[in-house]
Amino acid sequence: MTDSRETFNSNFDISNATLTASSFFSIKDNHISRIYEVFNRYGFVLIHLTSPKVFLEELGIFDKYFGNIIYHNRSDSSGISLIKIIPNFSNYFGTTNENTGLHTDGSCSKKPPKIVILYCEISSEIGGESQLLNCKLLYNNIVKYAPDLLNVLFEPNVFTITRDNESFTQPVFYYENDRVFTRFRGNKTAKISVLPKAKKAFNFIKKFVCDPKNILQFKLKQNQFLVIDNTMVMHGRTEFPKDSPRKLNRVFFDGNIKNSQFPYQIQFGFEPLN
Ligand SMILES: [Fe+2]
Repeated sequence: MTDSRETFNSNFDISNATLTASSFFSIKDNHISRIYEVFNRYGFVLIHLTSPKVFLEELGIFDKYFGNIIYHNRSDSSGISLIKIIPNFSNYFGTTNENTGLHTDGSCSKKPPKIVILYCEISSEIGGESQLLNCKLLYNNIVKYAPDLLNVLFEPNVFTITRDNESFTQPVFYYENDRVFTRFRGNKTAKISVLPKAKKAFNFIKKFVCDPKNILQFKLKQNQFLVIDNTMVMHGRTEFPKDSPRKLNRVFFDGNIKNSQFPYQIQFGFEPLN
């Protein structure tokens, strides 16, 4: 399978990655090849649901298309974690109103989810905009402008994250079946320590992910959801007011799709040489 992944930045027209369906349940096999096609091209899909009443438990039907649900220590029995302000839970960005910074999810676990779904139930009138960053663009920029910084980012102990007495040491880039996957978090909700010889490279990334021209920013509206390749696209959101009712629902999937009968196969990560 050849790599069909394209890069995007702040100028990307999000309508190219937007599809429409009436409800989660209405998404059937005939939609999925189009969803995979957009996902495989950009590393994410935005789906707008037109039904006025959406049943979140229907998200469970997606295991057929996106693999097994991965449960999180904040998720309920359906695998759904609420992304809304929950006081005294500030170790998790999902429960604050702060700018999260660009990151991949699951960086405190051995097997991060390959797919992150974020469904918007209530958007914030002010702020709370979604942000996406293409890791193939980041990789290409390192190759172009700082090639001497690349190799250290593949070392297995580039950075260590500690949260809730759990610690996990990991590379930023790693290979899975000849494709490059990315893990990154540079924010302050978890304690992050960086291998001394990787500091310059890590700082290059921190600067890159803060540069607005690299970030696709938009407001996820009520009844819209994002399907994100967590191995190639970082996500984040901007700050919003403390009294905002903003509420998103998040589900993780492992991407292990068994006995797929679809004409398209889902892709993760990117090929480094194109
Ligand atoms: Fe996240």
